[in-house]
Amino acid sequence: MAEALRVGIAGLGTVGASVVRVLSEKSAELTRQCGRELVVTAVSARDRARDRGVDISRSRWFDDPIELAGSADIDVFVELLGGEDGAAHESVKAALEAGRHVVTANKALLAKHGVALAEIAEEKGVLLNYEAAVAGGIPVIKTMREAMAGNSVTRVFGILNGTCNYILTRMEAEGLSFDACLREAQRLGYAEADPTFDIEGHDTAHKLSILTSLAFGNRIAADSIYMEGISNISQADIRAAGELGYRIKLLGVAQKTESGIEQRVHPTMVPTSSVIAQVHGVTNAVAIETDILGELLLSGPGAGGNATASAVVGDIADIAKSRPGFQHAPVFGRPARELRPYKKAQMRSHAGGYFIRLTVHDRIGVFAAIARRMADNEISLESIVQHAAGPDAADQKTVILVTHETTEAAVRKAVEGVTQDGHLSDKPQVIRIERAE
Ligand code: HSE
Repeated sequence: MAEALRVGIAGLGTVGASVVRVLSEKSAELTRQCGRELVVTAVSARDRARDRGVDISRSRWFDDPIELAGSADIDVFVELLGGEDGAAHESVKAALEAGRHVVTANKALLAKHGVALAEIAEEKGVLLNYEAAVAGGIPVIKTMREAMAGNSVTRVFGILNGTCNYILTRMEAEGLSFDACLREAQRLGYAEADPTFDIEGHDTAHKLSILTSLAFGNRIAADSIYMEGISNISQADIRAAGELGYRIKLLGVAQKTESGIEQRVHPTMVPTSSVIAQVHGVTNAVAIETDILGELLLSGPGAGGNATASAVVGDIADIAKSRPGFQHAPVFGRPARELRPYKKAQMRSHAGGYFIRLTVHDRIGVFAAIARRMADNEISLESIVQHAAGPDAADQKTVILVTHETTEAAVRKAVEGVTQDGHLSDKPQVIRIERAE
C-alpha cells in the first residue's frame, strides 16, 4: 500500500472537529477507497485545552497555523480558519509555496485572493481544492470544473446561504420573526461567526463570485457584485408573494448579458411551482444553464459541520488518489493566468419582472398616480392589487404591483416618482422576480 497521506488541519471549530471525526470514523473505508491511509498528523487552533469531542492526542500541535502550513510533517494543509486575510491567507500561501496541497472551505479568502493563490498552486503543480467553499456538501465545484467541458454557461443561480434559506423558510412556514429564526440558525451552527455576513448577502456573494469564474472563465470579481440582504423582508412581503404565486429566496445570480456579466445577490421572487422554490431550510441549490446540457439543478445540505466536512474529506481523498506527475485540473477550470478580465454589466440595465409593494395614504387619485408613473416609465403591469394595510392603519392601503419585463432603471425612476408624489406612508419595497422552472 502507498504511504499514508499526512494531513494538517488548521482550525478546529464546528467544521474542523467534524472533519477530524469523519476521518477517524471512516478511516477503514477511506483507506480502501484511496489505496492509502489518511492520517491527521498535525493540528492548529486557538485553544489547545478545549474539549471538541474528538481525539487529537496523536496529532502534533502547532500554536501557529503558518508554521503548520510550512511543516515538513504534512502533505496536505487543510485551512478551516476563516477570514479573507490574516492567518488564513498567509498559511494557505505558505503551504502552496512549500509545495503542499491545500484544501480550504474559505470562500472569503478565495473571493479575494483565489486567482493569485491558483497561480501559485498551478506553478507548483499542487492542488488547491475548495469544494466546501460553495454550497456546503453539494459537489458543484467538481461539476462545473470537470464535468461540463464544452458547455457554454448562460446563467448560474442558486440558494447559496443555508442561514438565509432557513430563516425565510421558517418565517413563511411558522410566521416567526426574523430575529427568532436567526437565533435558531446560529444555535444549530449554520451561521457565520458574524451573522451579518449571512443575512446581508456577503457570504452568498463570495460563493457566487467563485461560481461566476467557473461559469464564464473570468477573474474573480467579488467587488462587482450587486448585493442586498434579507433583513428588510417582512411578513407582509412573504404573504403577498404567496398570494401571487411566488416564494421569496435569497439568490445569487450570474448571467451573461449583451453588456457584460451581471452578478447580483438579492431577495428574489421565484414561482412557487419552480424547483428552486421547493428548496427549504438549510438546503442549498445551484442551477446551471448551458447551451449543451440545458438546465442542471443540484441541491443538498449547504451548511453545518457534517455537510461541510463531507466536501472537505472528499477534497482530501481526491488528493490521496492523485498520482505524482499527473497534470491536475486547473483550480478554476482553466489555467489561472488565462482567466479573462471581468466585464461588468451595469445593474440599472438589468431586465426582468418586479414586485413592488407600496403602503399608501388612502385617498382619491393615488391608484391613478401610481399607474401614471408606471406608464411614464414604459412599465407594463401584469397585475395591480390593493389591500387594506392592517388593523392599525385605517387610513392606509397596500398596493402591490407585478410588472412584466422591464429594466431596473425604469423601476427605480418610477418608484422615485411615486415617492415624490407624496402618497407613500412607508418605505416602498421592491423585489426582483427571477425566471425559474
Ligand atoms: N453560513 C453559511 C451558510 C455556512 O449559512 O450557508 C456555509 O458557508
